[in-house]
Amino acid sequence: MESNIITTRRLRAYYGFDLILKDIDISIPRNRITAIIGPSGCGKTTLLRCFNRLHELTPGAKIEGKILLEGNDILKLNPIEVRRKIGMVFQKPNPFPNMSIYDNVIAGYKLNGTKQSKEKLDEIVESSLKKAGLWNEVKDSLYKKGIYLSGGQQQRLCIARALAMNPEVLLLDEPTSALDPKSSAYIEEVLVELKKTVTIIIVTHNIAQAGRISDYTAFLYLGRLIEFGPTEKVFTAPKNLQTERYLSGKFG
Ligand SMILES: Nc1ncnc2c1ncn2[C@@H]1O[C@H](COP(=O)(O)OP(=O)(O)OP(=O)(O)O)[C@@H](O)[C@H]1O
Ligand SMILES: [Mg+2]
Repeated sequence: MESNIITTRRLRAYYGFDLILKDIDISIPRNRITAIIGPSGCGKTTLLRCFNRLHELTPGAKIEGKILLEGNDILKLNPIEVRRKIGMVFQKPNPFPNMSIYDNVIAGYKLNGTKQSKEKLDEIVESSLKKAGLWNEVKDSLYKKGIYLSGGQQQRLCIARALAMNPEVLLLDEPTSALDPKSSAYIEEVLVELKKTVTIIIVTHNIAQAGRISDYTAFLYLGRLIEFGPTEKVFTAPKNLQTERYLSGKFG
């Protein structure tokens, strides 16, 4: 039996009067990779943004229902704390353009105003870059600007920046869709290694990628959770016809 880290109960998300997520009940297993798949506009990004309370930053956006992080209602926690525990990596690599590689990794501490000793920061930078699989490539150029790195390296820098805050969950929204196959494959390896210590939720349009790296797959369609289960089961014996059609490339 898996232990779950995030559970939603009848989660609804709105933009203005538009109901985007319709009564989502999902439990995300700890230390596993969960892939969220589904056609464009079905609500994948909205769901991720609910998990770390970014959704409510959009004017007019609203959430109903519950999102529990280890049993605690995240809507009652401090949003800053929620975002520390549940980090996020976006589709387009977005290192802070004026910051060095080093400062990018510890940017969260600077933004939070958390003071740490130089030794401690050095340690955080090194361990985060190692976990993100970037240390060997940048250890001699930590004071160069992050934007001078390649796209794949920039995305790993963004992963390191999220990991530096020691999150329990890492959300990734199509993290490799802007990258070449080799850079994507490397990030997939990094994620599979990371799940030992962090729960991973990845939105992807790449069905093969979901099949390769995820333990669980959630299929969303028109704002509803149509199917959720072990990836192997969802891929080989989907219960729902829409899932089967989507996986076989008939729409999406
Ligand atoms: N800021 C916003 N204001 C109003 N509606 C929005 C906003 N962002 C998204 N939507 C709408 O919410 C729905 C779900 O969007 P969302 O971005 O979650 O889909 P998605 O599954 O991530 O799609 P894609 O695969 O294209 O990234 C869409 O109908 C979209 O038009
Ligand atoms: Mg999206």
